[in-house]
Amino acid sequence: MTMTTATDPQIEEFLAARADERLETYKELVRIPSISALPEHAPDCRRAAEWIAADLERIGMEHVEVAETGGHPIVYADWLHAEGAPTVLVYCHYDVQPVDPLELWTSPPFEPVVVGDRILGRGVADDKGQLHLHLRATEAILATRGRLPVNLRFVFEGEEESSSVHLDAWLTAHRDRLAADFAVISDTGFFDGNIPAITIGLRGMMYAQIDVTGTEVDLHSGSYGGTVENPANALARIIAGLKDADGRILVPGFYDDVIELTEDERRRVAELPFDEDAYLARLGLPALHGEAGYSTLERRGARPTLDVNGLWSGFQGEGSKTIIPAHAHAKVSCRLVSAQDPKRIFEAFRAHVLALAPPGVRVDVRMLGGGRPSLTPTDHPATQAAARALAATFGREPVYIREGGSIPVCATFEEVLDLPVVLLGFDPPDQRAHAPNEWMDLGNYETGIRTVVRMWDEVAELGSAAFADGAAASAR
Ligand code: BES
Ligand code: MN
Ligand code: MN
Repeated sequence: MTMTTATDPQIEEFLAARADERLETYKELVRIPSISALPEHAPDCRRAAEWIAADLERIGMEHVEVAETGGHPIVYADWLHAEGAPTVLVYCHYDVQPVDPLELWTSPPFEPVVVGDRILGRGVADDKGQLHLHLRATEAILATRGRLPVNLRFVFEGEEESSSVHLDAWLTAHRDRLAADFAVISDTGFFDGNIPAITIGLRGMMYAQIDVTGTEVDLHSGSYGGTVENPANALARIIAGLKDADGRILVPGFYDDVIELTEDERRRVAELPFDEDAYLARLGLPALHGEAGYSTLERRGARPTLDVNGLWSGFQGEGSKTIIPAHAHAKVSCRLVSAQDPKRIFEAFRAHVLALAPPGVRVDVRMLGGGRPSLTPTDHPATQAAARALAATFGREPVYIREGGSIPVCATFEEVLDLPVVLLGFDPPDQRAHAPNEWMDLGNYETGIRTVVRMWDEVAELGSAAFADGAAASAR
């Protein structure tokens, strides 16, 4: 999608004169390998934070701070001189996922390249492109008008891809100085076919590891085979007991807090312009698979999951080695919906795994991370302003979608800061986030800058009254 509708002539002129410089600084940010999961990249995460802070200073944001969290820093900045206008808290993340398998990249992940109307590199879409477009929108407004139409607070995080371990504590500690009328999270994308979308649902997450231990070292499978439990076999049996062939999760109590879609919601999901054949073709699979009784979009957006994310045990080399492995391990995660609580789901999961464990091995289950699901309001004035801004700049009304992915801070904004959230994202739907050859559509990026400019103007026009406690609460 390459449509760009003018915002106002000064801003268009400012942006047009800086197209090359903009692409260059976008690439600069992408070149910093800020992989939050890998300790050896901690200095790079800090470098990315400092790069962003310097940019914020340069464009005229205030109270710019690289805030310590105990982990990777948070970048904070604000501009609060739009007296009487609403205040918006904008969230993006500057950290990225690891790049392996490296050999599948057509160009090095941290050397971004432009191919046609795409830019390729780790983080170009998730989430540096979106962070960068917010910087450029703010810069354009401040440079041309000398002021912003709304009050802005930026919170740019560096641990989103590692379960945001330190974010909630920081947000809670700074709750008072983060007061706003609503939050905008730019870390989602467009719908199938690159149709503008506002995400209204995100799934939560419970991430766990199962460790099955037998003997201290591997055993000769001839001398001992048949007389002891095999940790790998035991783990396979445990995993097989987690789900049935219809895709139903067998953990007792797992579905207790899952709310079924209403008929009306199901109808709206069914009306989305989704091409299931193209989806299947793009994946190159022989068939789709999921929980019986639900459509693909329902399975992705409104149903919980349980998936093995990693599995290892025994001999991994070429040829054969005859052993009973000493141990076996699995990483398992559940995507959660409705009122499912990560800790409660973990307890139920753990109890079920232990009940499935055969007596001849030791089984440990621990939780590695989690986040709550969230549903954001469609009829909130901020959501509607975002919809108008998308329609005005992309030339097409957005669709409202439930996404399968997770952004744990969304629930934190709602619960800790009491902020309604708008998920306004610009990634193309098949952007290969977390995978080799991640790409961003430069048309979405460019037009996204205009959408943000337009959105702040729309919000300013509504005025503070539209977001007064009563108004916002009744729309939620
Ligand atoms: N940007 C994604 C979240 C997302 C994924 C939104 C798909 C819309 C569609 C985010 O960076 C992400 O990858 N989140 C993790 C969270 C996890 C580490 C707790 C995820 O969903 O796996
Ligand atoms: Mn992201
Ligand atoms: Mn991600």
